[in-house]
Amino acid sequence: METQTAKILDGKALAATIQQELATTIAELQPKIGRPPGLAVLMVGDNPASAAYVKNKEKAGAKVGIASFGQHFPTQTSQTVLEEVIAELNQDEQVDGILVQLPLPKHLDAISLLHKIAPDKDADGLHPINLGKLVRGETGLRSCTPAGVMRLLEEYKIPLVGKQAVVVGRSILVGKPMALMLLEADATVTIAHSRTQDLKTITQNADILIAAAGIPGLITAQMVKPGAVVIDVGINRVTDSSGKSRLIGDIDFAATASVAEYITPVPGGIGPMTVAMLLQNTVSSYLQTTRN
Ligand SMILES: NC(=O)c1ccc[n+]([C@@H]2O[C@H](COP(=O)([O-])OP(=O)(O)OC[C@H]3O[C@@H](n4cnc5c(N)ncnc54)[C@H](OP(=O)(O)O)[C@@H]3O)[C@@H](O)[C@H]2O)c1
Repeated sequence: METQTAKILDGKALAATIQQELATTIAELQPKIGRPPGLAVLMVGDNPASAAYVKNKEKAGAKVGIASFGQHFPTQTSQTVLEEVIAELNQDEQVDGILVQLPLPKHLDAISLLHKIAPDKDADGLHPINLGKLVRGETGLRSCTPAGVMRLLEEYKIPLVGKQAVVVGRSILVGKPMALMLLEADATVTIAHSRTQDLKTITQNADILIAAAGIPGLITAQMVKPGAVVIDVGINRVTDSSGKSRLIGDIDFAATASVAEYITPVPGGIGPMTVAMLLQNTVSSYLQTTRN
């Protein structure tokens, strides 16, 4: 059995600290602004994983003093109904953040719905305007999961300038914005995806390796450079031989922890950081209302 030598990047602990700070900010500002920040998480259908994420987000929001305007719609809800709801929330002065929980049922066009969210209430940072600002390096609402990765790397003072960073995955939700944020931090970035050839040779060069493919055990210890910083964004539910289900990432944690210098656990790594960044985005839009 390998010995774990890697230090843990504790996303759960950092997320708790960030949430504490947000709670203090909200408690101070609420009397001046006259209302709490508001977040609307829109969920459609009964996907159990999505339901758990939504519950988590609302619970975390309530804990820091964010009011929930969340709505849960039946699977058959039409695109038009959701567009109308988003249009109302865009106008609602109590609401600072709006997010559509993905994935959506097949008959709905997620991209078109994301376009309808007012960019300054786009708590998930997925509106083209906010993604465009990220490309240009302008201030804007940033996609929560990659923003959470960056915040965690910053907390542990991981040097990024000039480092080889490899991102495995190129989704709009995680991989692409992740690569852009690392680029913005002056890392030299490579993006791998399902058509990439010889993934191992690429990942073995990574000083910073980010796995966001959604494939359990995709990254083995042999694919990791000794001393690398390894971030596991993947969340995969697996059932073991005894029928017990648990969450694992994309990285073989036990073996990789004997090779890497730093590693994130699953759960307790990037998951809680994503929620913390969502709340932070909501509070940042709330603060913006006082400046307008
Ligand atoms: N921690 C969090 O809070 C959080 C938040 C969001 C997502 N996640 C998790 O992160 C994972 C990725 O999420 P996502 O939304 O980005 O998923 P996604 O949209 O399915 O994208 C997966 C990406 O991985 C690539 N990929 C698939 N197989 C690969 C392989 N064998 N080698 C290299 N790349 C491969 C795909 O390439 P192609 O583009 O070529 O298909 C795609 O770009 C999932 O496990 C998800 O649950 C976690």
